[in-house]
Amino acid sequence: MSETEASGDGGRRGRFVTFEGGEGAGKSTQLTRLADRLRRLGLSVITTREPGGSPGAEALRHVLLSGAAEALGPEAEAILFAAARADHVEALIRPAVASGQWVICDRFIDSTRVYQGITGNVPPRLIAALESISVGTMLPDLTLLLDLPAAEGLKRAAARRGFDTADRFEKDGIDLHESRRDGFLALARSEPDRFAVIDAAQEVETVAEAVWYAVRRRLGI
Ligand code: TYD
Repeated sequence: MSETEASGDGGRRGRFVTFEGGEGAGKSTQLTRLADRLRRLGLSVITTREPGGSPGAEALRHVLLSGAAEALGPEAEAILFAAARADHVEALIRPAVASGQWVICDRFIDSTRVYQGITGNVPPRLIAALESISVGTMLPDLTLLLDLPAAEGLKRAAARRGFDTADRFEKDGIDLHESRRDGFLALARSEPDRFAVIDAAQEVETVAEAVWYAVRRRLGI
């Protein structure tokens, strides 16, 4: 879902914004709305997602979300997410931000920290090493955490999915999804300057306003 427009801000460094949260939190809806709003200000915006966002990473997306890598264990999955991320950062995110564009990404390092690290029991040292290899200094300027009770998110995700089967991670039990929510909130508490926590149980319009307020206040536009 990458979408590129010509850079329009004279070579100034762009911004890197990520959305995080559990299943069905409304990340892609809010991401699209934020991108539209920024474009209306004349900014050049790319929207993208993980796992995926570049041809190499999209190939790994299928391996990860189909469950083909599940039998290899959470450490191997973490390594594959990191490999996909390294390609995505080098092929798309870093050059776009360097050329003055805004990049808005659906999930990034915090999903690995939570799904594979905190709740997948992959040791923090491995998570940190993978992050340093795949991301280096390309950390988000702002991370919008869309927070929602797991039961509500799963209900929304199931409605959106219709008759399709749940993917590798969505199919997990509610307790695990609730632990993931706690994991994201703990990360947000540990890095309050990077995170803005948004109550995603509210109406879509209200959430969009909260996202906009956070972006304007944190990134000064
Ligand atoms: P996706 O279909 O993109 O759904 P959504 O973001 O709407 O939930 O699924 C991505 C899944 O992969 C999601 O269940 C979270 C998981 N995931 C990880 O476990 N680790 C990661 O590093 C990333 C990026 C995603």
